[in-house]
Amino acid sequence: MQILTLHEQEELELQLIKQELESGGVVVIPTETVYGLAANAFNEQAVNKIFEVKGRPKDNPLIVHISNVNMLNELVQEVPAKAKKLMDKFWPGPLTLVMKKQDILPDAVTCGLNTVGIRMPKHKLALKIIETVGFPLAAPSANLSGRPSPTEVSHCVEDLGEKVNFIVDGGRCEVGVESTVLLVAEEPFVILRPGIINQKQIEDVLQEKVLVNDGLQPKEDRIVKSPGVKYKHYAPKAEVLLIVGDFKEFKNYVETEADLKMCAMVFENEMNNFSVKCFSYGKQSEPESLAKNIFTILRQVDKENYKRVFVHMPKQNAETLVIWNRLIRAANFKLINLNKR
Ligand code: TXA
Ligand code: MG
Repeated sequence: MQILTLHEQEELELQLIKQELESGGVVVIPTETVYGLAANAFNEQAVNKIFEVKGRPKDNPLIVHISNVNMLNELVQEVPAKAKKLMDKFWPGPLTLVMKKQDILPDAVTCGLNTVGIRMPKHKLALKIIETVGFPLAAPSANLSGRPSPTEVSHCVEDLGEKVNFIVDGGRCEVGVESTVLLVAEEPFVILRPGIINQKQIEDVLQEKVLVNDGLQPKEDRIVKSPGVKYKHYAPKAEVLLIVGDFKEFKNYVETEADLKMCAMVFENEMNNFSVKCFSYGKQSEPESLAKNIFTILRQVDKENYKRVFVHMPKQNAETLVIWNRLIRAANFKLINLNKR
């Protein structure tokens, strides 16, 4: 496996990537959200390889990544006018739009659904790679299925290093959580997976309400529209426990439970005076900082061999929904509300 940096030998390295993708291989590429495991979306065998390498269930469809809107013509039947507004506002960026697919797109990408999720990533290297190869890239997150999504090259090496020939280094992912997935193939639009682009921002552009599948309830088998959300996800080896309560209550609770094998994930201003090891995941007043760090910390917790991590949860609102959605899966829906005791 080779890590490509695309700094000094950019042309040469782009050609290596191009060859690999043209010949039906898979390549790990950076995006602004998380790293992706990419293959030619129009090559069925290459797409199947993605599922194999990740150990991904065969009923969980992939997102297709494009570098310009002309690529939409061969992928979708039509772009709804309202969806176009969202593209104008949020692309390139962390918003995936689910639209009616063209027949020529292999079923392997969409797992037989008649829709396909598409986004234009906001990462220089991702865009350059798609431009260079000239075809859209199907790419799920570049982790082993069920593990926390990869936000740094080292995470991809850890999970997939032995299974891929090339990993492109794009540095630390700016956003740190996966894109918002919005179903626009029918109305009303539905947020199938919350992301950093939130309900309010989408409604502000559309000037109308959208529905949200917040994914905060455990019984998700009923939700068939976004197959991916029903699987246990994002889980480190350590047990994750989510805790709601003010700082004093949180600290008391954690300290009565404390032992050497546990740690806590707290807000930046709470770092001092704990008797257990703490990781700061950012400022409560800046949800984007929290989102950026959650997967990185969950992986670090395992690396340092902690068996349990207690997470101080932010107040629940439109902006923090993405954080709640990811963490509640990592915790397998274990939540302790200290306000209700
Ligand atoms: O930010 C991201 O979205 C990252 C980067 C690499 O772009 N990708 C990513 O892919 O998170 P993945 O495969 O880990 O998650 C894709 C999600 C799944 O929940 C899947 O079920 C949903 O998108 N999805 C994809 N196509 C769909 C479709 N046609 N209908 C409904 N849900 C779809
Ligand atoms: Mg994923």
